[in-house]
Amino acid sequence: MKKLDVVLGLQWGDEGKGKVVDVLAGSYPVIARFQGGPNAGHSIHFEGKTFVLRSIPSGVFRKDTINIIGNGVVLDPVTFREECENIRAAGIDIHSRLVVAKKAHLILPTHRMLDAAQEAAKGASKIGSTLKGIGPTYTDKIARNGLRVGDILTPDFRRRYESLREKHFEMLRQLNYSCDVAEMEAAWFDAIEYLKTFKLVSAEYFTDECLRDDKTILAEGAQGSMLDIDYGSYPFVTSSNTVCAGACTGLGLAPRRVGSVYGIFKAYCTRVGSGPFPTELFDATGEELRRKGYEFGAVTGRPRRTGWLDLVALKYTVMINGVTNLIMMKSDVLDDFDTVKAAVEYEVDGKRTAEVPFDTYAEITPVYKEFKGWKADITSATSEDQLPAAFKDYIKFIEDYLGVPVTILSVGPDRNQTIFR
Ligand code: GDP
Ligand code: IMO
Ligand code: MG
Repeated sequence: MKKLDVVLGLQWGDEGKGKVVDVLAGSYPVIARFQGGPNAGHSIHFEGKTFVLRSIPSGVFRKDTINIIGNGVVLDPVTFREECENIRAAGIDIHSRLVVAKKAHLILPTHRMLDAAQEAAKGASKIGSTLKGIGPTYTDKIARNGLRVGDILTPDFRRRYESLREKHFEMLRQLNYSCDVAEMEAAWFDAIEYLKTFKLVSAEYFTDECLRDDKTILAEGAQGSMLDIDYGSYPFVTSSNTVCAGACTGLGLAPRRVGSVYGIFKAYCTRVGSGPFPTELFDATGEELRRKGYEFGAVTGRPRRTGWLDLVALKYTVMINGVTNLIMMKSDVLDDFDTVKAAVEYEVDGKRTAEVPFDTYAEITPVYKEFKGWKADITSATSEDQLPAAFKDYIKFIEDYLGVPVTILSVGPDRNQTIFR
């Protein structure tokens, strides 16, 4: 029987998952998103075109792929509709390529307002949320108040919506947040009608049938493992399980059906929003990484924080996810650097450690290993033998440190700038 392979981000998100899934989708008949929602922004470049996907799996641009929005996802019908219309404008019949899980939870207009109100109430300790309503929607799911995609087909949907909205209004009043929901609500209900035009499925039966029909599924993670609700730098995390185990709960597939786990990382690090980032650079080098890597949020446009590769954090996320293959992205961004660094240990309270500490607020001083820069343009390399020796040394060290092979290298944003090793 075929397996569920998983692609996920090993850092703080924006590793390049969209690009990799689009590339791999050429050899997978089914692509599935299993968690997160429109807080994600997955960029894809091919044939001179650029798309940024939010909730729709990055397999939609490959003909003959089925794309699933799984039950672990939280769906904003308005963003979903905008996304679909963008894809349709590119001449793609999205309805024939996409199915949506009935058990996925809906993001209401008031969830977005609650996100804004709750962030504002946190003041200086804010998470730096994308404010798409992710946290409040998962809160309602866990508190057993949520509305699900399948509910839109039931006759009392409007009444249930209004009842949840009233609960939210009460919470917003307590937070002194004034709002006018009428306009957003009209657009939301229009988008609900649009959502009804898609095939709504029981994802657990659907995915089981795919595997039994000999169709391998590629699960596409959103965010990154360091933003996982359980294993990330809590509370500076997102509200879902971004790790491999999330693919099982988010698609209704048993753990024994997981095959390869592709862990994606950038050759350096970035983070958007608040929270610890031990290797963060506040100097000209950090600025250069941001400029060369064009490190600005695909969703919010916020400048991303930048820093050197953190192998301590990476080893931790490789462990949690059971990564079988590593995919290294954006190495080309380091092409001009004289020296490249990677953290191999942390110093915490005067002691060295190779583990990520429990204390999110711990003062961490990274211990670096330095590498000679390769000082060569690798963006047009198409095979291993065209890569500079110093770059191969950097990869070799990473593989040895993590104990997992790097099997794919990305040397530019385009679909074709990909080297299989
Ligand atoms: P995702 O959220 O993990 O899908 O990543 P994003 O799309 O948010 O951010 C990754 C950015 O890096 C996008 O703008 C990609 O087009 C770009 N990108 C992906 N791979 C590479 C690469 O190998 N080199 C360069 N220079 N850019 C890349
Ligand atoms: P992709 O899938 C990077 C970050 C936010 C914030 C925290 C919580 O494109 O890699 P939320 O909106 O979930 O309440 O925000 O998580 N964050 C991301 N950072 N990439 C993402 O997605 C992110 N999704 C959320 O910046 O710090
Ligand atoms: Mg992104």
